[in-house]
Amino acid sequence: MSGSLLVDNIGELVTNGPGTRPLGIRRDAAVLVEEGRVAWVGPSATAPAADRRLDVGGAAVLPGFVDSHAHLVFAGDRAAEFAARMAGEPYTGGGIRTTVGATRAATDDELRATVRRLRGEALRQGTTTMEIKSGYGLTVADEARSLRIAAEVTEDTTFLGAHVVPAEYADRPDDYVGLVCGPMLAAAAPHAKWIDVFCERGAFDVDHSRAILACGQAVGLGVRVHANQLGPGPGVQLGVELGAASVDHCTYLSDADVDALASSLVDCMCHEGPHSTTVATLLPGAEFSTRSPYPDARRLLDAGVTVALATDCNPGSSYTSSMAFCVALAVREMRMTPAEAVWAATAGGARALRRDDIGVLVPGARADLMILDAPSYLHLAYRPGVPLIRQVIRNGVPL
Ligand code: NIG
Ligand code: FE
Repeated sequence: MSGSLLVDNIGELVTNGPGTRPLGIRRDAAVLVEEGRVAWVGPSATAPAADRRLDVGGAAVLPGFVDSHAHLVFAGDRAAEFAARMAGEPYTGGGIRTTVGATRAATDDELRATVRRLRGEALRQGTTTMEIKSGYGLTVADEARSLRIAAEVTEDTTFLGAHVVPAEYADRPDDYVGLVCGPMLAAAAPHAKWIDVFCERGAFDVDHSRAILACGQAVGLGVRVHANQLGPGPGVQLGVELGAASVDHCTYLSDADVDALASSLVDCMCHEGPHSTTVATLLPGAEFSTRSPYPDARRLLDAGVTVALATDCNPGSSYTSSMAFCVALAVREMRMTPAEAVWAATAGGARALRRDDIGVLVPGARADLMILDAPSYLHLAYRPGVPLIRQVIRNGVPL
């Protein structure tokens, strides 16, 4: 479909840009979309003419969700492990190796089908951008194919060869780090934008993590870190030290971790003023599904840290693709206001991916919108578990 599209009669428009704070809200608004971009935003009463008009009948319209952390390339599921956890077993990350076995045994088409199924599921729930990691292959060939398949559906692909040390290297972690930094990175880098490490007891220590992230940086990949998920540790401060775009999980933070994130503040000419260069991405689906304490978003926000919310969609610790569910959890369990949570799930995710073309509805931004079956963004947290996404527009195309 070509030509311009006017999304009109919007009761409440979240722009994450200019407008009434928080969220840059405009009432009785319209958005003009041209060639996949937002061309104009303003009052319905003064909207320009367009080739087509979509009357949303007073509904709320928001930027599409930006899910900046997901592991979609895998085979099998771990429903039994989930059931065991709900009966009292702790989550240790040990099940990652189960998924590695299933993923290695899967064909390309089986992996592709799972990625497309989950990407489609997320899209129908309003997620217009989704980062996707490798990390369940852990051989040169399996990591490269995971990223190739991920790159078919997203431009934000992340090489996570350092997810865990696979069983065949259990006694030789140094050799595995050598493999990750050498042939595996060489095979992965052409298909990846980011590099990530699970810096945690039982996965990679701080020296290995630093070495791996530095190798990735040296070939031009941006840095992200799985940090401080299962206990306190050095991951968050390592991420800040390396200028990571995001440190993810942040469940167990010391005052020094919060200070480090807050000290990564930069000034900018953007709508919100100064913000931290290293975003803290919180993944409440993981705490929900592992029955763990939730991270304290309020503490981070009060310290001035930029917070993003993402699903962490994966078969082990968080098998949800629903950003709305994460918003509801963040509001109920993590002391975020509904406005903070919605910002974190849209503009915050964009920050975590260092993108300024998404997560906002301002002229020039990508025309990624969701239309709610509700009069306000508040309903995303107020009506948990309810399918409120009436329609999604991605790249200017109504889906
Ligand atoms: O982000 N923490 C490491 N990786 C994933 C979990 C992977 C799994 O359990 O399969 C996470 O939670
Ligand atoms: Fe993860």
